[in-house]
Amino acid sequence: MTRPTTIDEVRQAYLDFFQAKDHLVVPSASLIPAGDPTLLFTSAGMVQFKSYFSGEERPPRPRLASSQKCFRTSDIDEVGDPKHLTFFEMLGNFSIGDYFKREAIAWAWEFCTQVLQLPEERLWITVFLDDDEAEAIWREIGVPPERILRYGEEHNYWGPAGEEGPCGPCSEIHYDYGEEYGPDATPAEGGERFVEIWNLVFTQFHQRRDGSRTPLPTPNIDTGMGLERTAAIMQGVRSVYQTDAFDYLVERGAELAKMRYGEDEEMDYALRVLAEHARAVTFLIADGVAPSNEGRGYVLRRILRRAVRYARKAGVPAVEGGFLSGMAEAVIQRMGPVYPELERERDFIYSVIRGEEQRFNRTIDAGTAFLEGMLEGRVTAREQLLGLLKAVSSRPEISRDDNSAEEVAEVAIWAAKLRNKLREGTPLGSLMTGKGAEVDAFNRGLLAFGLEKTMQFVASMVQETDLTDEQILDKAPKLSSAIEQLLPATKRIFGNEAFLLYDTYGFPPDITRDIAREHGLQVDMEGFEREMEAQRERGRASAKFGLGDAASPEAYQTLATGESRFTGYDSLREETVVIGLLAGGAPVERASKGQQVEVVLRETPFYAEAGGQVGDTGQLRGPLGVVR
Ligand code: SER
Repeated sequence: MTRPTTIDEVRQAYLDFFQAKDHLVVPSASLIPAGDPTLLFTSAGMVQFKSYFSGEERPPRPRLASSQKCFRTSDIDEVGDPKHLTFFEMLGNFSIGDYFKREAIAWAWEFCTQVLQLPEERLWITVFLDDDEAEAIWREIGVPPERILRYGEEHNYWGPAGEEGPCGPCSEIHYDYGEEYGPDATPAEGGERFVEIWNLVFTQFHQRRDGSRTPLPTPNIDTGMGLERTAAIMQGVRSVYQTDAFDYLVERGAELAKMRYGEDEEMDYALRVLAEHARAVTFLIADGVAPSNEGRGYVLRRILRRAVRYARKAGVPAVEGGFLSGMAEAVIQRMGPVYPELERERDFIYSVIRGEEQRFNRTIDAGTAFLEGMLEGRVTAREQLLGLLKAVSSRPEISRDDNSAEEVAEVAIWAAKLRNKLREGTPLGSLMTGKGAEVDAFNRGLLAFGLEKTMQFVASMVQETDLTDEQILDKAPKLSSAIEQLLPATKRIFGNEAFLLYDTYGFPPDITRDIAREHGLQVDMEGFEREMEAQRERGRASAKFGLGDAASPEAYQTLATGESRFTGYDSLREETVVIGLLAGGAPVERASKGQQVEVVLRETPFYAEAGGQVGDTGQLRGPLGVVR
């Protein structure tokens, strides 16, 4: 028998193997789980069979096998390394009250050693702490005891997928790439040289939302084998990106980016992330997920935007028609024959990706400039403050700690001077951001300093700007404390700033955090969350104009190309529907009272600003209210 090697061969060999053992081969279900509100995405092969395990429905046959499209964000930060993915294919064989541990283990072993022809000494087994039965079976089929390890719930107990459902102890098969990939160790240490390829779950319990478990009507089997990881082993490569699941796509990315893979580690990493995310979004959109600010749509948006950001970070030049849609094209071409929904939804996939990529590129241009200005300002401010601190510390007469009213007034002069500098836009001004925020952050520093009185004076002193720095330094008391209080602010992005970036520029907070981290700054995520909560409150309190759950393909096409049908030559009124809503250039699900938004209508009698002519004004009326 020849060993299966390519992705398609491994998948087929697996399905054939289990078909020959009486399994019914079932097509992959959608990435959007049907009727399971507790689960955002299909994360394992068993998801479409949950109701069979629970006994609510009868399976067409007690033995099933599939290659399931799966999506998980749990490993997103690891994407780009040799083995972690968000979207992947999971091979699985399932027994609904039919065979149990003995057959599941024996067949897994047979498939690995006979069909894949993996050398036995490369395979390690893990079992659940008290699972003597599983260990005995592994030993019987010839696995030496020293390559069988036992673990607790964290590693060897699986499920449920979502908040409730089937679960049970499990047993895993790990592959050892060999000493050249890491020091002598076991899979326990999670070293680079090992990769988990197959998980056999002995599904015996139903776990409820409160965490309690009850036995299922019958014991079942749920197994999951990582197709891409297995193919990497079969192809004799260390990384999934070197397999035929990805090599063409990494190549395509490099081609679009006009660079070569393998020359620069940072660039290569970005190309791998891009390939992974492009493949994931292509499949998500094909299954009907559209970008939004909530739920699945938000996850899609995050991945898409993360990819755009990586492309920009790696210096990928602008690509006609969009970089990611160029990648999606390659995915559809390669995987369309196995997953026909890709071909079927081709146009929808392109238009969603293009629209989102264009929009995000536009907003990110503005947002990045804003954020980087802010970051640079922090650096400049820090340098200046440190300089001032040095100057001040060398002068004992102005570092005294007794703040008389007069001295406070003198600090106020200094404050006023700085404040005016802010207004003039001198570099010190970039200590803070935006108009109000500049002054706010500055004041925050001084208030923290404890000189409330200072601030009372600031307002009246604002006019007094003709003192030299030297004169001000001469007069100010305890300047050093004030400066020290201000310093931490130069290492932070405040919650309200992160929120502004999110709300106005559509920057997901993790992108803000990534960029800030690159500059050695921290984002106040708690402050950000508080701002989000405050916005949600405002939203609840005022009238809402909602869009449906998912935008239609038609909506995205229109959003992507900006083509509403203009009817204003014939009529000044139109009865139509809202197909898109944008705030700060990014699509949103809803908007609330007081917010400025762009509304995209399917037909519109409003002439848009163009050719030097101003746009029409008027009202939108709907059952929920009026928009001016
Ligand atoms: N459900 C198990 C897993 O996801 C086995 O398929 O690992």
